[in-house]
This record gives sequence, structure tokens and C-alpha cells, in this order.
Amino acid sequence: MDQPNAPSQSFPYVITISSEKGGVGKTTLATNLAIFLKALNEDIPVTIFSFDNHFTIDKMFTLKPDSSQKTVADLIAGEKGSDLIQTGQYGVNFIPSSHNLAKQKAAVKGPMEIARNLALSEIDGIIIIDTRPDLDSLTENALYAADRVLIPVKDMPSLENCRNIFSLFDKRGLDKKSLVLIPCLIDERIKFEGLFSDQKSLLRAFAINRGYRCHDVYISKSPKVESLNTNPDGKIYPVLTHGRGTDVHGQFATLAREILETYLNEKEPRSLLFSKWMTSEDQREKDAFVARMGGTRSKCLLCDKELMNGSAGDIGYYFETSDGSECGFLENDCFMKLLSNAVFNMNSDITKDDPTYMLLRESARKSFFLFKVRTEDGKHLVDFRRMDQAGDVQTSRVLNFRDHSGGKVTGGENHLFSLISETLSGYDNSYRDAYLLVQPVEPDSPQDILQKEQYRKFSNLKTRVASIFI
Ligand SMILES: Nc1ncnc2c1ncn2[C@@H]1O[C@H](COP(=O)(O)OP(=O)(O)O)[C@@H](O)[C@H]1O
Ligand SMILES: [Mg+2]
Repeated sequence: MDQPNAPSQSFPYVITISSEKGGVGKTTLATNLAIFLKALNEDIPVTIFSFDNHFTIDKMFTLKPDSSQKTVADLIAGEKGSDLIQTGQYGVNFIPSSHNLAKQKAAVKGPMEIARNLALSEIDGIIIIDTRPDLDSLTENALYAADRVLIPVKDMPSLENCRNIFSLFDKRGLDKKSLVLIPCLIDERIKFEGLFSDQKSLLRAFAINRGYRCHDVYISKSPKVESLNTNPDGKIYPVLTHGRGTDVHGQFATLAREILETYLNEKEPRSLLFSKWMTSEDQREKDAFVARMGGTRSKCLLCDKELMNGSAGDIGYYFETSDGSECGFLENDCFMKLLSNAVFNMNSDITKDDPTYMLLRESARKSFFLFKVRTEDGKHLVDFRRMDQAGDVQTSRVLNFRDHSGGKVTGGENHLFSLISETLSGYDNSYRDAYLLVQPVEPDSPQDILQKEQYRKFSNLKTRVASIFI
């Protein structure tokens, strides 16, 4: 059958049920809503999972118990959602609950982790998330991932508590139109004198007065519904099949119909928007990489050998000036020659298997170098620093540079002159007030230094160094 919202097929529409109060009917609402939605349109997949550890969902939906199954903990750990779902009773899919969420919770790094996972989940149709009575990081994630948040309120204290959910959205500058209150466990026998004749009208009036959206549908308190939780066989029965004839049956049907309609009219659920945003972020990152690569010299600055033609095995270092105007790669041997001769004054005929040379080579791979020209009594000097990868200075030297710029220069001294003059020259034989940074790279994939994470690390080091020297 054609899905009316075909473009968003593999991007789920997410409904989160949340309230900081326990016992307001969250789990009853979540599970029964899933069943009613499925009963209204069996072609639309409905998946439910819970961040609580009461296992109601498992008790209601499991067809074949299997303790080796994947759980919501795997979803939180980043596994693909569609690989975790089980086909359950009443045609409802579910992801089994977990005993270990406390541990997993600590691994949730940001507030959009679940939004991201669900955008990548390839789960079709509607997802319902039941949450703990707590605004912990998982609930927060579930709130931000949702197209619709249903907040059951049964009395004034639970209404007071919604304030925290609304202020979370305010704090992050998020649109609150996804948040909708729903009066639950309404005792129809309670009547008041005066303007508001009953519980639900009173709650709705207070909610609207505070600027909260409130559902027209409410859920009554029903002894029959309450009894569905407690059965000799340990099962929990649904309102759809075992609560016929109650008001709650009709109320859930109305609510499910309204939600189904909203779902069918939703062309761009949050998961799709999130996925589009991630793609554009990816593209931005790729563009930034290409731009960085484009501005990078393709030849070794010291020996002029073409480096980026596929035989990149000899590249050892990346350099970049603090003002970003020059960047490129250096052959490993060239930079070692510069270090051993011009910086550490080793004999120019030192061999590569000399232990001192080998030690220098090894420590250079773990270092980060800075060169900066300064003028003193008309002479150019180079301030040299060797830092560790945290940016802490390990070696400081002043290199007598002017001497190398004239007359006969050889080996490493020539390299130092080339490096400095090619990267830090200004107008009229002067040098810019910038410095040069040199950082080891992976010989097999030197360009990785220009990729998102590595380049961010390099930039952080640059910032750290700037704060030391400027
Ligand atoms: N409409 C209802 N009428 C009567 N009892 C209900 C109704 N909905 C839920 N309950 C009962 O209220 C208690 C709390 O419901 P539950 O859905 O577990 O709330 P929560 O998930 O918010 O803690 C349960 O014992 C449940 O059976
Ligand atoms: Mg619950």
C-alpha cells in the first residue's frame, strides 16, 4: 500500500511520553496508544521502547522470551535501531528494556544522541518512547528527539512539574510546540462548585493560563483499566481488548485517531530534518577539507619533491603558519635534517642508525614545533620551541638565523632558511609577525590532519600555543 507520507518512510515520527511525576499514567498511555494506533492502521509500523526499568513493555509485547536479545542499551550505545526491534503482540514492534541503563546513561554525551540515533535508525512509521519519572539525560534526549511530547497531568502537583520540561526547552532555545499536556486519571465523580465544574476543566484552565498546550482528549480514571495490570498469570492486558465498554477505551481511540492524522500530515518528521542537517554538516565538513587541501602545497617545501601524487610514503610533517597563509607537508628526512643540524647541532654526516639521531627522530614524532622570527640589534633570530602534544614546552632554543641567509649554507641550515623564508617572509626582506607550526602526520594518510577531528585537535594546539607566546 502507498504510504501517504512516502518521502519520510524510513524516518520515524517520534512520540515521547514524559512527566517527572510517577503514577500519572505514562506507561499505560504509551503502551495502549501503540496498540490503538496499530489497530487503526495495521500498515503503519509502530515501535515502542522504554527508558524505565519496570519491563512493562516486555511483559505486554514479548512473543518469545529470549534473554540474549538486544535492548535499548544497545540503541543508546549507537547500534542501528532497525536491527534491535522485535515483532511483538498486537502487531506492535518493540525494543526490549534493559537492566543496565544507569551505566549507559553515563555514556550519553549530548542531548541530541537519541535524535541522531533515531534519524539513522531506519525505523519506519511511529516510535513511542516511554520515559522514567525523572528529567535525566535519557529523558532529555527523548524529549528533543520527539515530534510530539505527551505530558500526562493528573493533578496540580503534576501540572506544577511540567514547568521543568518547558524550561528545558527554553534553556536550549527549542520550539515548544511539540509539548502537549494531556489530563490523565481523571475521576469523573469529582465535581466542583463554580466556574470549573470538574478536574479536567480545572487542569486545562490552569495549563492554558500558563501558556501550555493541552489536549482536548483526556483519559478517565477507571477501576477496570487499573485492574488490567494485576492478573494471576502476571500479564498486563490492553484496554483495546480487555477494556471495552469503558470511557478510557473510547478516549484512547480518539487520541490515537488524532495522532494518526497528525502523523499522516507530517511530511518532515524531526528525524528527517535531523538527517538532512547531518548531511549538510557532512558536506560542510567535506567542503572545508577540500578547501584546506586546496590551499596546501603539493611539494615538499624543503626538497621540492612532489608529495601528493599517491606515493605519499615519505611525508612526515605538516606545517601551517599562525596566520594561515602558508601550509603544506614536509618530507620526513628533510625535516629531520633541519632538526638535527640546524636546531640540535648534530654533525651533518650523522647516519640514520646513529642512536642519538634515532632518539631525536622518535621524540620528534611525539612533538609539535614552533618557529618564530624576531629581530635583535638588526639581526634576525629564530625562537624555536619543541612542545609535547598537549602544547607544553619541552625544549627552547634561539637559532642564529641571519648567518644562514647569506653566503654558503648547506644541509639543515639551508633547510631552516628555506622553511622560514618561504613561510614567514613579509615585505621588504622583513618577516611577518606570525609563527610557524610543524606537526607530525601519519605517513600513510598525511591528509587526515586536515579532516574534521584531527584538524580540530591541531587548531586547539594552535590556540594553546598562541596563548603562551602572544
Ligand atoms: N486510566 C486509568 N484508570 C485507572 N488506573 C490507571 C489508569 N491509567 C493508569 N492507571 C494505573 O495507575 C498506575 C500508574 O500508571 P502508569 O501508567 O504505570 O503510570 P507512570 O508510568 O506514569 O508511572 C498503574 O497502577 C495503572 O494501572
Ligand atoms: Mg511508567
